[in-house]
Amino acid sequence: MARIVAGVGCSHVHAIGEAIDLRKTEDEYWRKLFEGFKRAKELMVELRPDLIIGVFNDHGSAISLQYIPTFSLGVAAEFKPADEGWGARQVPNVKGNPEFASYLAEALILDEFDMTIINEMDVDHGLTVPLSLMLGQGKEWPCPVIPLCVNALTYPSPTGKRCFALGRAIRKAVDRYERDLRIVILGTGGMSHQIHGERAGLINSSWDKRFLDRLSSHPQELAEIPLLEYVRETGAEGVEMVMWLVMRGALNDDVEEAYRFYHVPASNTAVGNIILMNRN
Ligand code: DHB
Ligand code: FE
Repeated sequence: MARIVAGVGCSHVHAIGEAIDLRKTEDEYWRKLFEGFKRAKELMVELRPDLIIGVFNDHGSAISLQYIPTFSLGVAAEFKPADEGWGARQVPNVKGNPEFASYLAEALILDEFDMTIINEMDVDHGLTVPLSLMLGQGKEWPCPVIPLCVNALTYPSPTGKRCFALGRAIRKAVDRYERDLRIVILGTGGMSHQIHGERAGLINSSWDKRFLDRLSSHPQELAEIPLLEYVRETGAEGVEMVMWLVMRGALNDDVEEAYRFYHVPASNTAVGNIILMNRN
């Protein structure tokens, strides 16, 4: 039977990808940040996922402003890294799992989550940066990744409550899938960041830390946070944290926090990482 073994929350700051790609990880500015991801990477190896469900937001790379799906699911066999203006990152193509992804699309739609189905998409830093941080830089990613996109780019994003409920529906679908699969669900984005305008560089560490504190034990409380609170307290792009709630919704009520890391700054943002293990 398929089961979700762990959930991961991980920021997707673009500049982190550049630091990796331009071999700056040992530079003074970046050293501490990359040290903080070493243990997370080891835990991912120990978890041996057969599949990752990668919940991320596209940043206008694949999804244009012409059509903005609130939730969408990549069912293709492969997804190339997107060219975000200065050439695509030199990372492996993301291999999907069309069979499971199509199963999941059907299960979610029949469960009244109207996913847009994506047959072709390039994936941007929103997905590839967390994959680099959690899985390292091999010739291939160690397992298939199904991209699940959430609109966190243009207002209104789906609410945290809706994202949490989507996680619950993903969990139900996984539990009904008969083939053996060890699945890790990855929620990307956040934490505090405002990357434009007068409040650019806004960091609210105490709010971020309280979010991390409550993620394992009081997720329902986090699901009630209104979108405007994310924007007010953590910046316009801080709203990306709703994607962590898709991840949390897919886990057991009772989880063990296996790892946590929080770091400021990366570019002009706060970076968070958490690994929650399902006790089952
Ligand atoms: C940056 C971009 C992002 O998409 C994000 O979530 C955080 C930071 C950036 O360009 O710095
Ligand atoms: Fe982003």
